Amino acid sequence: MNILVVGTGFVGATHAAVMAHTGHKVLAYDIDSQKIDAFNSRDAQAIDSQIYERGLAKLIQDHKSNLSFTSKLADVTSIRDQLDAIFLCLPTPAQELEKPFDERYLARAAYSIEPILSLRSKTKQENRLIILNKSTVPIGTAKTLEDRLRERGLDNFAVGSNPEFLVEGKAVQGSLNPDRIVVGLRDEKDIEKAKRIYKNHEGKIITMSPESAESVKLLANFELYSRIVQTYHVAGRLCESNPNLNYEDIIAGVTADARIPKWGHYLSLYAGGSCFDKDARNLLKTIEECAASEHAQNFINTTIEGNKAQLKRLYHRAKETGFNFKGKTVALMGTAFKCNTNDVRMSPAIPLTKWLIRDGAFVLAYDPQASNNYLKAFEGAPESAYLSKCSKKEALELSDCTIICTEWPEFKFLAEDIRENCKTPYLILDGRRAIAKEYENLSREGYSIIAVGAPQMGPCF
Ligand SMILES: NC(=O)c1ccc[n+]([C@@H]2O[C@H](COP(=O)([O-])OP(=O)(O)OC[C@H]3O[C@@H](n4cnc5c(N)ncnc54)[C@H](O)[C@@H]3O)[C@@H](O)[C@H]2O)c1
Repeated sequence: MNILVVGTGFVGATHAAVMAHTGHKVLAYDIDSQKIDAFNSRDAQAIDSQIYERGLAKLIQDHKSNLSFTSKLADVTSIRDQLDAIFLCLPTPAQELEKPFDERYLARAAYSIEPILSLRSKTKQENRLIILNKSTVPIGTAKTLEDRLRERGLDNFAVGSNPEFLVEGKAVQGSLNPDRIVVGLRDEKDIEKAKRIYKNHEGKIITMSPESAESVKLLANFELYSRIVQTYHVAGRLCESNPNLNYEDIIAGVTADARIPKWGHYLSLYAGGSCFDKDARNLLKTIEECAASEHAQNFINTTIEGNKAQLKRLYHRAKETGFNFKGKTVALMGTAFKCNTNDVRMSPAIPLTKWLIRDGAFVLAYDPQASNNYLKAFEGAPESAYLSKCSKKEALELSDCTIICTEWPEFKFLAEDIRENCKTPYLILDGRRAIAKEYENLSREGYSIIAVGAPQMGPCF
């Protein structure tokens, strides 16, 4: 089938590559010509520098014949008559919730491809087009978009919802083998077409109204988000109160119950990334608008605020010990919001850097993939004078304190690097329990340790 993907970020680039891998002919369009040039170069390093997802560069390289990229609308218009489906993979930042519908990325991108629909309408195309939105949006977005396009005299198309559930860091693997494909379309023929597009996942397709599909995504993300934040504040606080409690042992016991999922029972300094927070705000706004219960609003608000409080708490615990960041050099281990990605959107490393610099520290950041994006986030900002990226060894050697922000597998061995490169007194803030097995030994050796889910160990400052 012939597919157009609009927006080639983490979702769009992965979806385009996976659709090509399925055997469809795919054109992917984005207004960011730098990104498009990188994909068109088929060079792994160039692709990774834009979007680092394991296996993505290889898929893009393997499907030269049926996957192309463009930033020119004329290329899009030229394939209009062959098109079977358009997937919208546009950004939906939290600020968009405050904007009128027509000013949002999704609507603007859809209106920019309006000439395709218009020309198709004029040539009396037999082939009905389905426009499936993969972005996470307020409930009712697909319907509003469809109504708006119809008001402009367009026909022979349907707008539906096909929310994306990929997990950054495992996006390709997850899209090749998804848990489910949720398709929100009303017309049986449109549903049939969506099923043909997802022919490889027949048993996993769940169909429903566009509004229900939009709700699935918001509710699923809230379920995950609230479980993580609950773990931070209940199990986490408990374990921080008593040296005889070991978080990993306790959670192994708790999740041995088949009814209790393992996912989400991990402690960290913050649940980052571009989705959880904004999707919860999106759900909150919908619930406020439909005047649903105060309890529902409180639940959602508590989760959002609880996540923010978790990050502040780790930093404040360091200050409470008497550690003064003024004039100190801090090694920031990990700037990506999670491992296996170069995405720094809503990464804890960003606010932490701001607080450190506000308090007079210098920041040396190390990340195996995301250092450039991290520095870009501070381009032109006053903080940029007080931070730089460097190797792990260099950062440790020059520092008075290290903060483990991302759960990159290599940080599991950081205790050894710290012993080799950092003389006591030295403060370790472990925001991922990456070196939990070494806390006792390190504290005996004179290092001070403050970790999520454990009381402070070692000498106080
Ligand atoms: N990243 C994730 O893990 C993930 C997972 C599931 C769902 N989602 C949702 O999917 C959506 C996209 O997320 P993302 O992470 O891929 O975002 P992104 O910011 O990485 O990518 C969006 C892309 O759209 C492009 N774009 C913006 N306006 C355009 C226009 N008018 N025409 C063409 N292209 C345009 C941007 O240049 C960018 O490349 C969001 O709603 C997000 O919440 C994301």
